[in-house]
Amino acid sequence: FPIHEPKEMDWSFAGPFGTYDKAQLQRGLKVYKEVCAACHSMKLVAFRTLEDLGYSEAQVKALAAEYTINDGPNDAGDMFDRPGIPSDHFPAPFPNEQAAAAANGGAAPPDMSLLAKARGVERGFPRFVFDIFTQYAQGGPDYIHSLLTGYDEEPPAGMEIPEGTSYNPYFIAGVSLKMPNPLSDDQVTYDDGSPQTVDQYSRDVSAFLMWAAEPHLEDRKKTGFRVLVFLSLFGALVYLTKRKVWAGVA
Ligand code: HEM
Repeated sequence: FPIHEPKEMDWSFAGPFGTYDKAQLQRGLKVYKEVCAACHSMKLVAFRTLEDLGYSEAQVKALAAEYTINDGPNDAGDMFDRPGIPSDHFPAPFPNEQAAAAANGGAAPPDMSLLAKARGVERGFPRFVFDIFTQYAQGGPDYIHSLLTGYDEEPPAGMEIPEGTSYNPYFIAGVSLKMPNPLSDDQVTYDDGSPQTVDQYSRDVSAFLMWAAEPHLEDRKKTGFRVLVFLSLFGALVYLTKRKVWAGVA
């Protein structure tokens, strides 16, 4: 049974001049917080970086304070709970990998900090070249979106689905996975009027995870473009100089 290729989406951050859509990232954060964070950690992302999404310092402080962080040891040598502050990272839903696996039928939900890049490299050669050129791995968010919207499909006749797993033709490591369909329509409330559908949630959370994995994508694209402009001008100059220097040589 072939694994389906991820559907290619039209992301705002694709291409050499792509940028993140902050409203979309804010919606994606909401989906992460209200749905994915129940099982997936995102350990490398600090609350303070959420200012990139357009939140003020005060909003980030308030957001961090919603979380309880286990800190310590204090002077007495004990661990203690305190409200989160902007320099904290998103806390993990499980104390360790074993507990995470035990709660999920033996498969630990992967950390989400770099998930959008994790599956982005498994693409064919031409796409790989394209990705280097635009400094953007497109497979990742396409894959996450396809995976999240791929639970509706029926398994082909005759396929055996192991107990405790869900069929998903986009899952790259088998016919089914131990993540049950996490999204349903109207599950997360959006206050900007965007459609509350599985497709929209999946797009938004994929874009958000791309940002989490590549927060400096816009700067890197800008730098890449400047480098290309510089190299073309410099190349032209070197060529003209060469012509001048060698002009008199027969
Ligand atoms: C795996 C995304 C919510 C449990 C994964 C993978 C992705 C993903 C991209 C990796 C698939 C791969 O290895 O190629 C998401 C997103 C979520 C979400 C975006 C929120 C919208 C959840 C929830 C649970 C969960 C709520 C727990 C009930 C798991 C487990 C795996 C997994 C157990 C490992 C599956 C396996 O290897 O069989 N998730 N997930 N996820 N997720 Fe989620």
